[in-house]
Amino acid sequence: MAAAIHTASVLAGEADVRRLAGAIEADDDLAALAVDALEEKPGLWRLTTYLPPPLDKAVVARLQEIAKAALGATTPGFVVEALPETDWVRKSLEGLKPVRAGRFLVHGAHDRDKARANDIAIEIEAGEAFGTGHHGTTAGCLLAIERAIRTGPVRNALDIGTGTGVLAIAIARLAHCPVLASDIDPVAARVAMENVRLNGAAPEVRVVAAAGIAGRLFRANAPYDLIVANILAGPLVALAPSVVRVLAPGGTLILSGLTTSQRTRVANAYRGLGLRLVRTNIRDDWATLTLTRPLRR
Ligand SMILES: C[S@@+](CC[C@H](N)C(=O)[O-])C[C@H]1O[C@@H](n2cnc3c(N)ncnc32)[C@H](O)[C@@H]1O
Repeated sequence: MAAAIHTASVLAGEADVRRLAGAIEADDDLAALAVDALEEKPGLWRLTTYLPPPLDKAVVARLQEIAKAALGATTPGFVVEALPETDWVRKSLEGLKPVRAGRFLVHGAHDRDKARANDIAIEIEAGEAFGTGHHGTTAGCLLAIERAIRTGPVRNALDIGTGTGVLAIAIARLAHCPVLASDIDPVAARVAMENVRLNGAAPEVRVVAAAGIAGRLFRANAPYDLIVANILAGPLVALAPSVVRVLAPGGTLILSGLTTSQRTRVANAYRGLGLRLVRTNIRDDWATLTLTRPLRR
């Protein structure tokens, strides 16, 4: 289990809390993750400092030194507590706004009511995996998925590097077809499975932990008429021959996780294997490529 983030909190008057907050934020050695100042009751403020893991005694001692320098004789005592990791993640997710990409609305539990009648709402509790829809690559893939499903029938799909499972769920919700989703990280695979269940996509989406698509399962379920892979440029180039092998003739391949300067190298690796680049979408300097495999080579 990863080391926990700790909080160090003190109660003091407003002026002291504000002075101390400024001194803590300015201290590079302490490298606090965040500093929160809140009025607990009239005239009494709570200052909470979030300390990066692992907690070291020297960090707490440094905090006392900063307080002494900032407040002198009135130095308050800090109460140091471990923050349960999942609560921290949840707390940070609560601030995330829902993301719209075409018909898809990706949102957290706190924003269920934001979905409109025609939206395809996907609820994601991200935590330990990538893919809340906020990243340019995820949003780019969601738009490309919608276009691909509108353009031709999708009966069988593959999502490589599923993260939270967001893209696999999107395909299942729009195309109502089987989707095999994989991730090299077993924690991401577990999170994806939970999100798949949460979104009622378990009948369509199967999640496995696997690196690339070398396993027998990927071949046994081939060919796929839609494949999405939002991983990095290097692995995308390395995976090109095995991905093209399992893409159905006439099928669509959506690639992301590459910067605009990497897009030509990645596209060329797939063009060299007979695919045609039909669209490049740029979002926040991230490129999403849509390629197709011709019916006949
Ligand atoms: C950028 S995230 C994409 C998550 C999600 N599909 C999305 O679009 O938001 C990339 C994911 O790919 C996984 N990954 C990286 N290399 C991989 C590989 N060779 N095989 C399978 N998964 C991989 C990572 O663990 C990570 O969860």
